[in-house]
Amino acid sequence: MSILHGESYKPRNGFTRWLEKRLPIIGLIYPAFVTFPTPRNLNYAYTFGGILLVCLMIQIISGIVLSMHYTPHVDYAFESIEHIMRDVNYGWLIRYMHANGASMFFLAVYIHIFRGLYYGSYKEPRELLWIIGVMLYLMMMATAFLGYLLPWGQMSFWGATVITNFFSAIPFVGDAIVEWLRGGFSIDNATLNRFFSLHYLLPFMIVGVVVLHIWGLHVVGNSNPTGVELQKKEETVPFHPYYTLKDGFALVLFLMLFALFLFYMPNVLGHTDNYIKADSLVTPAHIVPEWYFLPFYAILRAVPDKLLGVLIMFASIGVLFILPWLDTSPVRSAAFRPLYRQFFWIFVFVCLGLGYMGAMPPEGLYLTMSRLLTVYYFFHFLFVLPVLGFFETPRPLPASIMPSVLDTEGKGDVDEGA
Ligand code: HEM
Repeated sequence: MSILHGESYKPRNGFTRWLEKRLPIIGLIYPAFVTFPTPRNLNYAYTFGGILLVCLMIQIISGIVLSMHYTPHVDYAFESIEHIMRDVNYGWLIRYMHANGASMFFLAVYIHIFRGLYYGSYKEPRELLWIIGVMLYLMMMATAFLGYLLPWGQMSFWGATVITNFFSAIPFVGDAIVEWLRGGFSIDNATLNRFFSLHYLLPFMIVGVVVLHIWGLHVVGNSNPTGVELQKKEETVPFHPYYTLKDGFALVLFLMLFALFLFYMPNVLGHTDNYIKADSLVTPAHIVPEWYFLPFYAILRAVPDKLLGVLIMFASIGVLFILPWLDTSPVRSAAFRPLYRQFFWIFVFVCLGLGYMGAMPPEGLYLTMSRLLTVYYFFHFLFVLPVLGFFETPRPLPASIMPSVLDTEGKGDVDEGA
């Protein structure tokens, strides 16, 4: 039997025996979430998948409550948000939870993605798991973009105008596509209605894709910080109580950070212009997206040609789909790849730098820096990763994950002294 097979469920009382005979639903969940054999050496970077699940739930629940009081009409949308903030019991809490929750969701997904990049989680046999993850990321971005129009503020209106306008760069049919997307010549009631409808739908589609993501994970199993595959059942512990507790503890810390934003600075991540009602005759001085889109916005503006800019921006996400085949190193984890580790951190700073440039006006030094960082972004994926695998001498891999668990060599932390 595979070492990834968790102990099966044995009903203990009359009711569960009755249920299992008719609908073995507990028996389905139990080996996947209770007894599922999980590597003993997962660190806190591996708790973010679980945190993401909680973020998704928070967004869905707060969103459903918000939509009970929200009106998707250009004459009422802005006012209905103010009504939620002022008149609805705890409406301010639900609204701030949803708006800041989106930021926390992206913070978690970025940590989750960079964890994957560091530990080579995208490598065989987890390529499809990674690809499904990139699809989730794209769906999250689409959902966030659609949702941002709903408060019908200045940034909502102009953000949606700029982004839908991207499509006008497509030769011949571009303008027709933009009109079709908007449901008219400009962002208006038809746009608001369809954005609301799709913003409500997409999170449930995300739930469906998350099921595939976790299903895939349970077939190939978790990787771990050493990158060495498991060989024996003794190298694992049951998911519950070991990782339910560890994930739970990380979740509490994460929720404390969430609470800090929610209760002490609920507007710091948003833009003040979005408290001004949408006005098609007044363009804001700077149109900037939410912080989690800034690196892509910098890439878009770094390219002088509109169509090329749009293509390169999409390519910056598209390249993630082929990442498993770009990295040629046979070693999975950066803990044993001294050179890759340096390039990884350079790449992190390049992404942060792009984010900063995205928030700045596209001129002078900012524009030059955006261009250099954009070139490096692609250089990392298209040159560093394919070539490094041939030249780097990895550190010797341990025979199993056990030294990192038992600390037999005084190297409990696999990264130590590397
Ligand atoms: C709604 C968003 C997402 C949810 C709810 C989610 C959930 C999870 C969970 C619960 C795990 C197992 C625990 C862990 O390793 O942290 C996991 C693992 C993984 N996820 Fe995600 N994920 C999401 C998005 C993504 C994205 C955007 C990517 C990549 C672009 C990704 C790639 C992976 C990979 C490669 C693993 C396996 C990691 C390993 O074992 O080394 N996920 N995910």
